[in-house]
Amino acid sequence: MQIVIQADAAAVAEHGAAVFIRQLQQQPASVLGLATGSTPVALYQRLIRAYQQGEISFRQVKTFNLDEYLGLSGSHPQSYRYFMQQQLFKHIDIPATATAVPDGMAADPIAACEHYEQQIAAAGGIDLQLLGLGRNGHIGFNEPSSGLRSRTRIKTLTQDTIKDNARFFQPGEYQPHLSLTMGIGTILDARKVILLATGKAKAQAVKAMIEGPLSASCPASALQLHQQALVVLDEEAASELSQLEFYRHIERENASLLARLGRS
Ligand code: F6R
Repeated sequence: MQIVIQADAAAVAEHGAAVFIRQLQQQPASVLGLATGSTPVALYQRLIRAYQQGEISFRQVKTFNLDEYLGLSGSHPQSYRYFMQQQLFKHIDIPATATAVPDGMAADPIAACEHYEQQIAAAGGIDLQLLGLGRNGHIGFNEPSSGLRSRTRIKTLTQDTIKDNARFFQPGEYQPHLSLTMGIGTILDARKVILLATGKAKAQAVKAMIEGPLSASCPASALQLHQQALVVLDEEAASELSQLEFYRHIERENASLLARLGRS
């Protein structure tokens, strides 16, 4: 795991966006895995700006979102399809047919999950997967106790997650408690993974992910097994790490090595 610690949430978004911009410049036909929630919004805004300034195009890109609420249609304002439309897709040149979000209204959601896996495989797999981190250590909607090799499937949300996400729903509005989510195995199959976490509320989950045992109790700890996982944190999210100074030291060493090799 490469751990990068930035001063604040804006710098985290900047760093994350730079990774995506480089990916699209080097491989314009990339397959991207995308996330919803509060954390990636600022990164998406930077990608939109980079597109508007002609630095990148999404014309050849394919995207797969991590998850969707079971029972919400793509036109529901709290659906993740709607979120992606508003926060990214409608602002860029990606063809609508190149964007995939699990279908929350599928007549057979179990078959829809299997089909999602087949679609990802048919696209050649995910080149770069974006992740946020739940306060309980979830990635996608892989809640604690999720199988570490799980594939796209229906998951029951924990009360913690339902409570955390209640802020997006109107008082009294129906809030789903089931989801369709890529599995941990699906996420680990991505060639590169980048996880962003900001704010004090994520600090315990960050510590468990990086320094805790590999365990289904913290699904994000599965990233310890990934060959190219980049974790970008702000100071607050990094504040519970016991080896904080060592991670900063590694980054300085990496930077000077790359500079010496002329690859910075
Ligand atoms: C979203 C997702 C979730 C969020 C996580 C953090 O597609 O899969 O795992 O990334 O719940 O959410 P925020 O960013 O709102 O704190």
